[in-house]
Amino acid sequence: MDWLLALLTGYALGSIPFGLLLTRITGTGDLRKIGSGNIGATNVLRTGRKGLAAATLLLDLAKGYFAVFLAWQWFPEFVSFAAGGAFLGHCFPVWLRLRGGKGVATTAGISLGLAWPVGIAYALVWLAMLAITRISSLAGMTAAIVAPLAAAATGHARFVSVLALIALAVVVLHRANIARIRAGTEPRVGGSGP
Ligand code: G3P
Repeated sequence: MDWLLALLTGYALGSIPFGLLLTRITGTGDLRKIGSGNIGATNVLRTGRKGLAAATLLLDLAKGYFAVFLAWQWFPEFVSFAAGGAFLGHCFPVWLRLRGGKGVATTAGISLGLAWPVGIAYALVWLAMLAITRISSLAGMTAAIVAPLAAAATGHARFVSVLALIALAVVVLHRANIARIRAGTEPRVGGSGP
């Protein structure tokens, strides 16, 4: 049953909605009624609270990393289950009636925890795409797609499947963003819009 314990440990950590908690605690408002309605750092940034957005980014990343880190200690055979659990927890938290985030920051932490070269590749692609396009969703999707490729290229074949499934889910969760990108209406970081 270690696979289930790994999955549930990951899920429990991943399901902590830091963006929602931080904005509520600081009286910034209900994130679900602001901008895109997403609970991630990009939408926290739209409240104008840069510090809160940075904290959300770091904490969402940290919970993904920590979930995998704990699995390495407790269930080393099943780290992929903890990784998948953390992603599912962030995107489908029971506390929010399964309406969570889109998993980009949490997957950065998961990637780093699984294999640091994958985490570095993820971060570099994410930051480069953000700098070039200033479209957070596009940068996040690209990084998520690169993660399984980076795992395969750096000798971490055992993590390719879970990272590929996560990448697929990240793209599906961004379908509204993709529609806006295609329509040319996706807001850019630092710009105005939803
Ligand atoms: O991590 C979420 C990001 O990729 C997109 O967020 O608020 O623009 O839908 P948002």
